[in-house]
Amino acid sequence: MDLIQVENLSVSGRLQPISFTLKRGEMLGVIGPNGAGKSTLLQCLAGIQPYSGRIEFEGRNLAELKQRQRARLFGYLPQAQQSAWALRVEDVVALGRLPWGDEDTQKIEAAMRLADVTQWRKRPVAQLSGGEQARVWLARVLAGEPNVLLADEPIASLDLKHQRTIMELLRSHSHWQQATILSLHDLSLAARYCDKLCLMAEGRLLAFGSAAEVLTPEHLSLAFGVDVHVDLDSQPPIILPR
Ligand SMILES: Nc1ncnc2c1ncn2[C@@H]1O[C@H](COP(=O)(O)OP(=O)(O)OP(=O)(O)O)[C@@H](O)[C@H]1O
Ligand SMILES: [Mg+2]
Repeated sequence: MDLIQVENLSVSGRLQPISFTLKRGEMLGVIGPNGAGKSTLLQCLAGIQPYSGRIEFEGRNLAELKQRQRARLFGYLPQAQQSAWALRVEDVVALGRLPWGDEDTQKIEAAMRLADVTQWRKRPVAQLSGGEQARVWLARVLAGEPNVLLADEPIASLDLKHQRTIMELLRSHSHWQQATILSLHDLSLAARYCDKLCLMAEGRLLAFGSAAEVLTPEHLSLAFGVDVHVDLDSQPPIILPR
């Protein structure tokens, strides 16, 4: 059975009906230009954006679940957060346990280690750089051990090393838990790490499938309005505007 089934999901004026399925263990990359509807799609999956259509997890309609049950299944990392909170890093990560109503210290410690933020645990999150904070937000979501991790541009502000470690971490998450769905603008990293890609433009699904199926020069020039050079055989794959 498919793990996630999305059927005619739409949001008035922002998302035209889209349908796709995802299998257990898969990592889905949502790509497309600014304003394409990537965040809107993730917000629907996270249950924070009203939608028409149906989203099923293992055959269960998500709309019928209580908010807390849904938050245990789907962990959501919003796009580009910056915080002026005086909270310490370890307290922010502990907030990831809210859907469970506990403060499981082992899970909080494990999440901090995975996102490589343990060294800042006592520092107020507001005093960290943008990229450092991004890893703290990710740790918070990991602490909830969601079955499906929804991450909206989790690597946008990260340095080269952490782009790679976080992509590897997200991919491992899809293996130990059940799936990862992330949006990103780096198409080379998307090709290298994602099992499936969902290319969107102007609120529509343009292509869905493997990197080879989705990342064609034709699809990319249609989506982005520029000529794109694609070499998926190179290690790592190269996808650049001409
Ligand atoms: N809360 C909102 N109410 C109404 N329209 C919105 C809202 N949020 C976003 N939009 C519009 O919906 C469209 C899709 O936005 P969305 O944030 O999903 O794009 P995106 O693909 O995530 O873009 P980006 O790459 O810039 O993050 C845009 O035209 C945007 O202006
Ligand atoms: Mg977005």
